[in-house]
Amino acid sequence: MTEPLLSIEGLKTHFFGYDGLVRAVDGVDLEVNPGEVLGLVGESGCGKTVTALSVMRLVDAPGRIVGGTIRFDRRDLLSLSASEMAQVRGAEIAMIFQQPKVSLNPVMRVGRQIAEQFIRRRGMDEAAAWKEAIGLLAAVGIPAPEAKARAYPHELSGGQAQRVMIAIALSLKPKLLIADEPTTALDVTVQAQVLALLRERCKALGTSLILVTHDLGVVAQVADRVAVMYAGQVVEQAPVERLFEAPEHPYTRGLLGSIPVLGALKPRLVEIPGNVPTLDGVSVGCRFAARCGERLRVGSRCETEAPPVIARGPGLQVRCWLADPAAADKERALA
Ligand SMILES: Nc1ncnc2c1ncn2[C@@H]1O[C@H](COP(=O)(O)OP(=O)(O)OP(=O)(O)O)[C@@H](O)[C@H]1O
Ligand SMILES: [Mg+2]
Repeated sequence: MTEPLLSIEGLKTHFFGYDGLVRAVDGVDLEVNPGEVLGLVGESGCGKTVTALSVMRLVDAPGRIVGGTIRFDRRDLLSLSASEMAQVRGAEIAMIFQQPKVSLNPVMRVGRQIAEQFIRRRGMDEAAAWKEAIGLLAAVGIPAPEAKARAYPHELSGGQAQRVMIAIALSLKPKLLIADEPTTALDVTVQAQVLALLRERCKALGTSLILVTHDLGVVAQVADRVAVMYAGQVVEQAPVERLFEAPEHPYTRGLLGSIPVLGALKPRLVEIPGNVPTLDGVSVGCRFAARCGERLRVGSRCETEAPPVIARGPGLQVRCWLADPAAADKERALA
């Protein structure tokens, strides 16, 4: 087994607001292997973005990382100094966001925005950096890259702007790229092209990709492995074919069961009865128990004891008592 590039254990990121505590990320365990595309999915508010920002150490007050470890490329990210972390950010771990045009500088030519990376971080001269920038625009499929390099962001389409963001994010050949809903703001056909590009570019560079999305169709198209989040935790991690063929966590089964199969261009995570629990209380038992159609008898472990992460095979982990045959049998005997 190769060592994971990124290994998150027991990560907790809480928000200490005026109206109370929000446990946005509350015990996330996650691994990303070198060169792999990991899809991070889950309903709105389950903590995907806060997990991503925690890896970048970009969580703003009143939020704070209060527990766990984040190991990246053999370093403990949470113990790096602010200046060491600034070196990692962009050069080793890059991030792209949902709204490309907001992330681009509106008054700087796009070629310049890419060239800046090479000038500031790699000490290149202007001419060499500009040449690199044009090469990158070509690599992300921007037509007439010399001309487009001189354009301002408002002159680009949404899809082109996101291609430019991908070019900037990958310019320094980071080991890891985190893309948070990178195509949600784009038209469906453009979405598919940009996702294909993202995967192709990352694979070409050997860059690992965490793709944050609501959309299981996107995951099926792009990911090698999938992590499913629920209420601040990862409840299942599995290779993509395995997740779609034999989901182990009842929540994952619910999500997949809720995909309309016929005539659906864009399967999405839709309704499972009940709501995500509020993230401000102290929970006992499994966080999904109240909504789970498969939980063990009333008063069972599902309700009284938080399930551990159970390894079910290579790259396959489930946070559910049902995945522990001994625990499940014992409970059934009591039922
Ligand atoms: N600055 C903040 N202050 C207080 N709570 C916050 C803050 N940022 C996020 N949260 C809370 O953290 C939880 C997780 O939010 P997060 O943005 O990570 O969810 P998400 O999975 O990315 O959702 P979405 O799919 O809608 O983007 C939510 O309950 C949210 O309200
Ligand atoms: Mg989000």
